[in-house]
Amino acid sequence: MNKKVRKAVIAGNWKMNKTPAEAKVLVEEMAPLVKGADCGVVVCVPYVDLCTVLDAVKGTNIEVGAENCHWEKSGAYTGEISADMLVSMGVQYVIIGHSERRTYFGDTDVTVQKRVRAALDAGLTVILCVGEYLEQREQGITDELVAMQTKIALGGVSKQELSKIIIAYEPVWAIGTGKTATAEQANEVCSVIRGVVAGLYDNAAADALTIQYGGSMNAKNAEELLDQPDVDGGLIGGASLKAADFSVIVKAASR
Ligand code: 13P
Repeated sequence: MNKKVRKAVIAGNWKMNKTPAEAKVLVEEMAPLVKGADCGVVVCVPYVDLCTVLDAVKGTNIEVGAENCHWEKSGAYTGEISADMLVSMGVQYVIIGHSERRTYFGDTDVTVQKRVRAALDAGLTVILCVGEYLEQREQGITDELVAMQTKIALGGVSKQELSKIIIAYEPVWAIGTGKTATAEQANEVCSVIRGVVAGLYDNAAADALTIQYGGSMNAKNAEELLDQPDVDGGLIGGASLKAADFSVIVKAASR
C-alpha cells in the first residue's frame, strides 16, 4: 500500500458543541493556524452552525461538513435534514454512521447504508465511521465487525463513487475517553479496512482510499498515529474544539 497516492484529511467533529457565535470565533481563530496545510482540513459542525461557518471559511482552506443527514430527499420527517439541503447550502462533507448516532439514535448498518447512498447521490463526500465496542475487541471480533460494517455501508457504492468516501476507524472505547488506540492497533484495523475495500473493488481503489483514525487523537499523539502507513488522517472530537490543538494535528498530517 502506498501512502503517497492518497490525501491526508484532518476533520473536526464538533458534536453538540458551539453556538453560531462561538463557532465563528473558533473558525476565525483556526483559519490562520491551518493556512497552507498540505492536507485536507474539514470542520463538521452542528446544523445550526453551518451557515455561519460556511461564511466564516470563505477564502480559507477549511472545508465544511455536517454530522449526519437523512436518507430521503424531502418529506414528513420532522426534525431531519436531507443531503440535498446540505448541498444547497454549500456543505461538502457529511459524517455518517458515527458511533454516537449508532448508540444513542438508533442508526444501524442498514440506515447507515441508506444515508451513504443519499449523500453520494447529492454529491457530498462521506466520512463513514466504523468501529468496535470494548467488549467486541475483548471477544476478538474487531476485524470481522469492522469488515461487516464497511461492507454493508459500501453496498451499492461503485468504484467510481469510492473517491467520495473517507472511512474513519473509531474504536468506540477510545472516543472521548482519553484512551487512544496504540498506533499499532489503529494501523492494524485501518489496514484490515483497506484489505476489505481491496476485496470489494481492487488494490488501486484501496490504495487511493483515505482512512482516518478517530478516538482521543490530540496534539500530543497525532504524529505517532499519523506516521502509521495505513492511517491517512484523523477524525477529531475534543481536540477540534481548540484551534491551537487542532492546528498541531493538521501540521502533523501535513509533513
Ligand atoms: P474524541 O477525539 O473526543 O475522542 O472524539 C472522537 C470522535 O468521536 C470523532 O468523531
